[in-house]
Amino acid sequence: MKRKLIITIDGPSGAGKSTVSQLLAEKLKYQYIDTGALYRVVALKVKQENLDPEDEDGLSLLCNRLDVCFGKKNGKLGFFLEGKDVSEEIRTPEMSLLASGVSAKKVVRDALLKIQRKLGDGGGIVVEGRDMGTVVFPEAEVKFFLNASLNIRGERRFKQYRDKGKVFDLDKIIREIEKRDSDDTRRALSPLKPADDAIEVDSTKMNLEEVVEAMLKIVQQRLPSSSK
Ligand code: DC
Repeated sequence: MKRKLIITIDGPSGAGKSTVSQLLAEKLKYQYIDTGALYRVVALKVKQENLDPEDEDGLSLLCNRLDVCFGKKNGKLGFFLEGKDVSEEIRTPEMSLLASGVSAKKVVRDALLKIQRKLGDGGGIVVEGRDMGTVVFPEAEVKFFLNASLNIRGERRFKQYRDKGKVFDLDKIIREIEKRDSDDTRRALSPLKPADDAIEVDSTKMNLEEVVEAMLKIVQQRLPSSSK
């Protein structure tokens, strides 16, 4: 067994995957990888280039010369497209929907699959997304599927935006999340679903610390004794 594990956290939008994954990674001193951000960067590039999201050849070209990296700036993790920090730009409702749209395209998934597997080389990662446990890292030692009720997820997203000074209509956010869940779940390629061996965690009535504690306990049981 590898000394450092691959831990996957899949689930629908607003379930708390990003915050939980970051905290878990911090506690374990693992690397945190946000794969949704990769799809969002593709969406941003599609918008910048005014590309038709249905144009598979155009998408393929775009993905193959995608200059994206993930790093820390002023102590905060950020996503950089062609050297520019786009961490905020990719987090708008418009980019959420466009990312979900482009993520259904085979050319996009194939290109990003390679990038994601490379990032995960050697283990020691907490990686979040929709198909981490099912497709990208089927061999992961610990797989979680994090969920919460639709209304709670909508409220959490609403608060996240509000904390950044952006005010959107709560009902609209809930409807957009519902649509995105439905698109992500029903698409033909790598749909959002729990892996057969995933541990399902419902965070509707749990706070952040409780979720992280519960996950950490499970991870610790699976760590090889030399690294506990
Ligand atoms: O996690 P997120 O909201 O940032 O993801 C944005 C979109 O990207 C999501 O609606 C579906 C897609 N996605 C995906 O298809 N596979 C992943 N592993 C991660 C995200």
